[in-house]
Amino acid sequence: MLVRVKKGWELPEAQATPESVFHDRRRLVAAMGIGALFAAAGAGLPGRAHAAAAGAGEDPSAGLYPMKRNLKYTLDRDLTKEELATAYNNYYEFGSQKDIAEEAQSLKIRPWTVRIDGMVEKEMTVDIDALLKRMPLEERLYRLRCVEAWSMAVPWSGFAMKALVDFARPLSSAKYVRMETLADKAVMPGLRQPWYPWPYTEGLTIAEATNELAFMATGLYGKPIPRQNGAPLRLAVPWKYGFKSVKSIVRFNFTDKRPVTFWEQLQKSEYGFWANVNPEVDHPRWSQATEMVLGKPGRVPTLPYNGYGEYVAGLYAGLEKTEGDRLFR
Ligand code: MTE
Repeated sequence: MLVRVKKGWELPEAQATPESVFHDRRRLVAAMGIGALFAAAGAGLPGRAHAAAAGAGEDPSAGLYPMKRNLKYTLDRDLTKEELATAYNNYYEFGSQKDIAEEAQSLKIRPWTVRIDGMVEKEMTVDIDALLKRMPLEERLYRLRCVEAWSMAVPWSGFAMKALVDFARPLSSAKYVRMETLADKAVMPGLRQPWYPWPYTEGLTIAEATNELAFMATGLYGKPIPRQNGAPLRLAVPWKYGFKSVKSIVRFNFTDKRPVTFWEQLQKSEYGFWANVNPEVDHPRWSQATEMVLGKPGRVPTLPYNGYGEYVAGLYAGLEKTEGDRLFR
C-alpha cells in the first residue's frame, strides 16, 4: 500500500533521518559514559528499560523463554548490555528520538494477529500465540549494524523466517514478501507526522526470506521482546542495515512486485531496497567504513555483509551488474 507523501527533500524534517538519530544516540552514550551507563541503572533512561521489562511479565508467551540457544551462530564480540539495547531505540512510530522506551509501553501486544495474504495458497489471519506454538523456537546471537554506523550484538529468540514462509505457503509466482508494522494512531504519536509514509513497511525477496539467517524475533535476552524493540514480532536480518528489521509486524503480503519500502519512499538514494552492509559503499552523507559498538569506546571496522557473507553472498551473485551500488545502500 503506497501512501502519497512529499519527496524526501521537501520534508520539513529532512534532517530527521537516521543520521540525526545516530548523533543523538552517540551523544547520549558519550554523555553517560561507558561505566556510568550501567551504574546509573536506577535513574534516567536505563530505569525506563526496567519498566519495559516489567511490562513483558504480562505477556502470555513468557513461559516459552529462555529458548534453547542455537550454537551455530557465534559472535566475534561481547553481547551488548541489555540496559543499553533496550533503552536506545529507533522506532519512529513513537518518535524520531532515541528515548522512546517509555512511550512504547502503551503498545498493546495482546491480542495480536498477523495477516498473511497476497500470493499464497490460502490467505489467513493467525494469532501470535497460536503461531508461536507451531514454530521451531530457538535463540540466536546476532549482530545488528544500523545504517547510522552504530552496532550492537544481542540474543534474539524466535524462529527462522523460512518456517513462517513454509507455513504461509506462497505461490511459486510470489517473488517478494512485504512486511507491515502496526499503525495505531491512538498510541503511536509519530503517526501524527503525515510526511512519513505510514505504515512502516519493509520487504525481502523470497530467496532472502528463506535464507537460514533471516529470523523472526519474538524475544530478547531470554524474555519476550520489549515493546521498544518491536514486540511481539520483528524481523532480524543481520547482513542488512538495521532499518530492514521491521518491528511489530501485523502483515506479511506475498507479491510478485518489489515493494517500495518506508525509507525508500522517503530517500531512495540513501535507504534502498537491498541495503546490504558494505563498508566500501558510503552512505551519501557519511562513511560506512567503521562503526561504533554500543557501550564500547572507539570504532571498529565494518565487515561486508556485516560478517555474514558466507551465508548470504550467493544470494546476490549476478545482481551486481543490474543493481550495482544499490545492493549496499
Ligand atoms: N521498525 C519500525 N516499525 N519503525 C522504525 O522506526 N527503525 C528501524 C528498525 N525497525 C524502525 C523499525 C531501524 S532504523 C533500526 S536501526 C532498528 O529497527 C533498531 O532496532 P532496535 O531499536 O531494536 O535497536
